[in-house]
Amino acid sequence: MRVIIKKNYDDCSIWVANYVADKINAAKPTAAKPFVIGLPTGSTPVGVYRELVKLCKAGAVSFENVVSFNMDEYVGLPHEHPCSYWHFMHDNFFNHIDIKPENINILDGMAADLSKECADYEQKIKNIGGIDLFLGGIGENGHIAFNEPGTSLSSRTRIKRLTKETREANARFFDGDLEQVPRLALTVGVGTIMDAREILIMASGRHKAEALRQTVEGGVSHMCTASVLQMHQYAAIVCDDDAAGEFSSRIVDYFKDIEYSELDFD
Ligand code: GLP
Repeated sequence: MRVIIKKNYDDCSIWVANYVADKINAAKPTAAKPFVIGLPTGSTPVGVYRELVKLCKAGAVSFENVVSFNMDEYVGLPHEHPCSYWHFMHDNFFNHIDIKPENINILDGMAADLSKECADYEQKIKNIGGIDLFLGGIGENGHIAFNEPGTSLSSRTRIKRLTKETREANARFFDGDLEQVPRLALTVGVGTIMDAREILIMASGRHKAEALRQTVEGGVSHMCTASVLQMHQYAAIVCDDDAAGEFSSRIVDYFKDIEYSELDFD
């Protein structure tokens, strides 16, 4: 696993956005062979989306032949609900780039048959040939997507009950009212994320430092689902100095010493 430590949130966002644009451009995607990207929500990726919109508007990258799969969605929120991830993604990203609406995939938390919705999502990812690059954030308890502590590390897309801790952390999007935060979500599994050819997790702020320490320096454990990234050949964490605040100084020196290079990814 690579750890890329940048000075602050903006530097992380710019670095990740340029990395994503370079990956898309290098793949030279076509309608027949699109670039397939997995996308997160939350506060962390907002800066990356802002930078990618800029790059797209400047003609430095196009999403015309990009297919996206979002990580997760709340159960019971319609698209137009301001806290639905569907709404978040369109507001922050999709409405401002040249992606084709039919290439956007987001789990439907209002589906009549939620289990079928999850199974169909997995199948759709498989049918397109898998995800090239999965971008993600990390929860304060080390979760990726909505894979809470205790999740099977080989889990697939399914319905998941959210912990109180996660609902509390996300209550800020719901006017601070915990009761409004759904108790259930649909989420890709840890196994679904691990199947991606490459994974990039972003983290910013002191409140993410302990989760990152466990992810990088702890053992692989279902109690910190992000730690499974240690088992992936092409996984990286991009974080700022604050989020790197709990790493031992040896780890910080080590990763700061290694200039980022695809050659020594794993
Ligand atoms: C939610 C999302 C995760 C996200 C996490 C952290 O639980 N399901 O995908 O990584 O929040 O969000 P934030 O970036 O707002 O801290």
